[in-house]
Amino acid sequence: MNRSLAIEFSRITEAASLAAFTWLGRGDKNAADNAAVKAMRFMLNNIDMDGEVVIGEGEIDDAPMLYIGEKLGTGNGEKVAIAVDPIDGTRMTAMGQANAISVLAAGGKETFLRAPDMYMEKLVVGPELKGIIDLNLDIVQNCRRVASRLGKSISQLTVMVLAKPRHNDVIKRIQELGARVICIPDGDVAGAVLCCLPDSEVDMLYGIGGAPEGVVTAAAVRALGGDMQARLLPRHLVKGDNPENRKIAEDEIRRCQESGALVNTVLALEQLAKNDNLVFVATGITTGDLLKGIQRKGNLATTETLLIRGNSRTIRRIQSTHYLDRKDAEIYELLSE
Ligand code: FBP
Repeated sequence: MNRSLAIEFSRITEAASLAAFTWLGRGDKNAADNAAVKAMRFMLNNIDMDGEVVIGEGEIDDAPMLYIGEKLGTGNGEKVAIAVDPIDGTRMTAMGQANAISVLAAGGKETFLRAPDMYMEKLVVGPELKGIIDLNLDIVQNCRRVASRLGKSISQLTVMVLAKPRHNDVIKRIQELGARVICIPDGDVAGAVLCCLPDSEVDMLYGIGGAPEGVVTAAAVRALGGDMQARLLPRHLVKGDNPENRKIAEDEIRRCQESGALVNTVLALEQLAKNDNLVFVATGITTGDLLKGIQRKGNLATTETLLIRGNSRTIRRIQSTHYLDRKDAEIYELLSE
């Protein structure tokens, strides 16, 4: 992907974050998500590219915008596959909590795993731990391997895990082993990216979260030289085995078969993000460990965006000031909704 197109994507998550921010702390996560989705789609459609959503808000029958297979862009220009997560941390945005970001990854037509919006188990580490992790092994064995490669004692090891009831047992076992666990309420994309940054205090991220978040994460991990393994999990294995979840799982498995994605199988980073021709971009909505959130005073807003290009491995932090009353009328309407 050419450099100027890659840099163009920073405007997309900026717009989605600004739109989401208008719903900050208002208790309505769906309204925040809708605003971010609309702004992201509007901006993507202005880019000269032949774009397609490969993983995102869901299937066409459930998601009116940014659904899997939706064509985006003007249609002129290179073919681009897009993985979107307009808000990673919808609940955090609605409750005015830290660490919410807007995020997307873009790459060549065949760059990303194509999968439905389902659950995905993820294990992520930074560049110095490449080749060490194995999702087929127990979490305790992975902790031991990581500590040994880093030359650390287990007590010096820090693992980040989503604080969900399904992870209670894993969290307890890592703590009993003697390592430190940082529990995050939501937002595993930012957590995973943190693992791969040079000055990070987090050694490994483990958890079952969303597949779109997983594919976006893989783009960042690949661009930063880190490592990741993942496993697509049908709903009944994550949320409880009952008839309703079985039915959803059947549909997920069928959709995976259609798109050629393997279910319940360990996938390597190279199967999630298949080449370096990609870009990862994230803008902070609320301030967190990875990015500053939006500061807004009247019609003036500042954003911080992280843009990482796979081919060059350049990490850009872009600080932007937006005069919202100077935007063209349509986007201003979206942002102030
Ligand atoms: P949303 O903001 O899109 O809800 O995602 C937040 C998140 O915590 C992700 O970071 C994570 O991958 C996923 O939700 C976990 O799913 P669930 O909330 O169903 O446990």
